[in-house]
Amino acid sequence: MKVALTCNTLPPDYSRESGDDTFAEFDSPSTISAIKKALLTHCDSVEVVEADEEAYERLRRGNFDFAFNIAEGVRGEAREAQIPAMLEMLGIPYSGSGVTTLAITLDKRRTKEVLLANGIRTPKFQLLSRSEDLRSDLKFPLFLKPNGEGSSRGITARSLVGSEEELEEVAREMVAKYRQPVLVEEYLTGREFTVGLLGNPPEVLPVVEVGFEGLPPGAPKFDCYEVKWIYDSLEARYDTTVCPARVDDDLRSRIADTATRTFEALEVRDLCRLDLRLDGDGEPSVFDVNALPGLIPDPAENSRFPKAAYAAGYSYEELIGEVFNAALRREGILR
Ligand SMILES: Nc1ncnc2c1ncn2[C@@H]1O[C@H](COP(=O)(O)OP(=O)(O)OP(=O)(O)O)[C@@H](O)[C@H]1O
Ligand SMILES: [Mg+2]
Repeated sequence: MKVALTCNTLPPDYSRESGDDTFAEFDSPSTISAIKKALLTHCDSVEVVEADEEAYERLRRGNFDFAFNIAEGVRGEAREAQIPAMLEMLGIPYSGSGVTTLAITLDKRRTKEVLLANGIRTPKFQLLSRSEDLRSDLKFPLFLKPNGEGSSRGITARSLVGSEEELEEVAREMVAKYRQPVLVEEYLTGREFTVGLLGNPPEVLPVVEVGFEGLPPGAPKFDCYEVKWIYDSLEARYDTTVCPARVDDDLRSRIADTATRTFEALEVRDLCRLDLRLDGDGEPSVFDVNALPGLIPDPAENSRFPKAAYAAGYSYEELIGEVFNAALRREGILR
């Protein structure tokens, strides 16, 4: 079987520590070669296909039987869905979620609408495009983020706002810099967890707690760009994650139930990682669904989905194999 590994590679001179978040969602050459190596334990041939403007031709001429897709996309509001759309057009089956799911999960507002329609808790919110009036039932403090980004792109220490003046200022800056509407959400102060799901129906991997107490004084108490990529980096060595999370059975099962219902509601496939916090009632409230979770292999980098898989007893090769085989089974290629 000949497999295309569709991905977007970080430019060689790019440094996340610089604070430049332009390519925050792309994968490093070392992650891509680790996935390729892992896939080669499950199939005979893997070719890396860069998911840029030339991708369609490469896929069309490549004689591929299958694609292992981790492509984030280079531009456009549904950029994660573009490679899957090309693969469908070419009749090449692929791993991970489909076009509709990837388009919805890259749009935080639409994701939240699907959650609400399925009775899953998510923080109260509003989408601000220009200078709409703030919904009167939204309570400060509020949290601001670009509606269509991931990997904490656009989320900074200033995302948490305590007043209408602050909100206006930060929203104006965000719209100008990221050229898209801003999602305003009520800020949840409860414990934060991230949950990995694997397979169909999904296995809920050990829950990861994300905690901010160990960070230096003055660091934000939420996962903004600085916390994710600078404090929690190989150099700085602050680890904000604990896995398995210290939670009792009751909370663990409520988190797992919320995560599974989210996976089903959004028709996610094969793998996903979602973020939630406990709300004022102590119930899990989902604010982010990543249908293309980061897959950095080195445990020292604290990539959350692999971290949860390691805690469940999978090696990196086994994790990639599980995703691959789940997709092959779903496509009827493997029984
Ligand atoms: N409504 C909220 N209440 C409290 N904290 C929040 C809220 N929304 C986001 N956060 C904080 O901001 C962080 C980043 O938000 P979010 O997960 O939505 O962004 P992202 O860029 O899509 O993340 P990812 O890296 O998972 O793709 C969260 O991990 C959490 O710490
Ligand atoms: Mg997130």
